[in-house]
Amino acid sequence: MSNIIAICNQKGGVGKTTTAMNLGAALAKQGKRVLLCDLDAQANLSEYLGFEEDDKPTITELFAVVAAQAYIEADTVKSSIRHNELNGVDYIPANINLANADVFLLNALSRETVLKRILTEDVTKDYDYVLIDCLPSLGVLLLNALAAADSMLIPVQVQKFSIDGLKALTSLCNQVKATINPQLYLLGILPTMVEHTTVSRNAVQLLEDTYTDKLLRTQIHRSVEAAKSSESGKALCLTSGSRLGEEYIELAEAIQKSF
Ligand SMILES: Nc1ncnc2c1ncn2[C@@H]1O[C@H](COP(=O)(O)OP(=O)(O)OP(=O)(O)O)[C@@H](O)[C@H]1O
Ligand SMILES: [Mg+2]
Repeated sequence: MSNIIAICNQKGGVGKTTTAMNLGAALAKQGKRVLLCDLDAQANLSEYLGFEEDDKPTITELFAVVAAQAYIEADTVKSSIRHNELNGVDYIPANINLANADVFLLNALSRETVLKRILTEDVTKDYDYVLIDCLPSLGVLLLNALAAADSMLIPVQVQKFSIDGLKALTSLCNQVKATINPQLYLLGILPTMVEHTTVSRNAVQLLEDTYTDKLLRTQIHRSVEAAKSSESGKALCLTSGSRLGEEYIELAEAIQKSF
């Protein structure tokens, strides 16, 4: 059985995509079979993985099929899966048309569970981990991710304002648990872009005081390595001596222990 993890935070630019890619590649390096799912019309994760449009479906077409006919064949979903050799991961790409999801999901039956009907056991059984890179919003696509996932991993840029926004997300998590996905749980809060400053230290302290055992021990520091990695398409853990690479390896180990 695979573990489906939604990497989410409605705040933009906190390191969701960087975490999806680098946690995925780190798990793959540790011998795990990983499927990454891009659920953002910005398609940053797909770009990171070197995706170029072809005639195979993206997550957008899969959503459109389910919206129209309520179900989708596992083979159609499998035909959307690409392989990235360098980073050792499989992925389902997104494209800009996913921005219209609100429109084409409008009349769909049970529109929060479309992704759940895409990521069926038949599709995910070949993987140990499925990581969903969510968009920065609390809308219907995020609800789809939370309905399909077993757990949530929340990267938080360590600043006071970012921490304030977490309450809305954890409250949404509770609402999803009470309705469409009772099994959903918070896997952890991941401090990102940590710096050796008082502001950064205070923010980590605030997270620790508020979220206690849900705050992960692993911290991802701020480094230009992140931007370089997305430019080259090579995960951080594949560059020897990369500090962030080691941090994502540590995160992958911690996540494996927690299941
Ligand atoms: N640890 C880090 N140190 C420095 N820069 C980082 C770090 N992690 C990510 N970045 C950079 O910050 C920017 C935002 O990161 P990323 O795209 O992962 O965030 P995101 O939460 O997915 O954003 P969005 O909400 O727009 O999807 C990118 O330019 C990325 O290279
Ligand atoms: Mg992103």
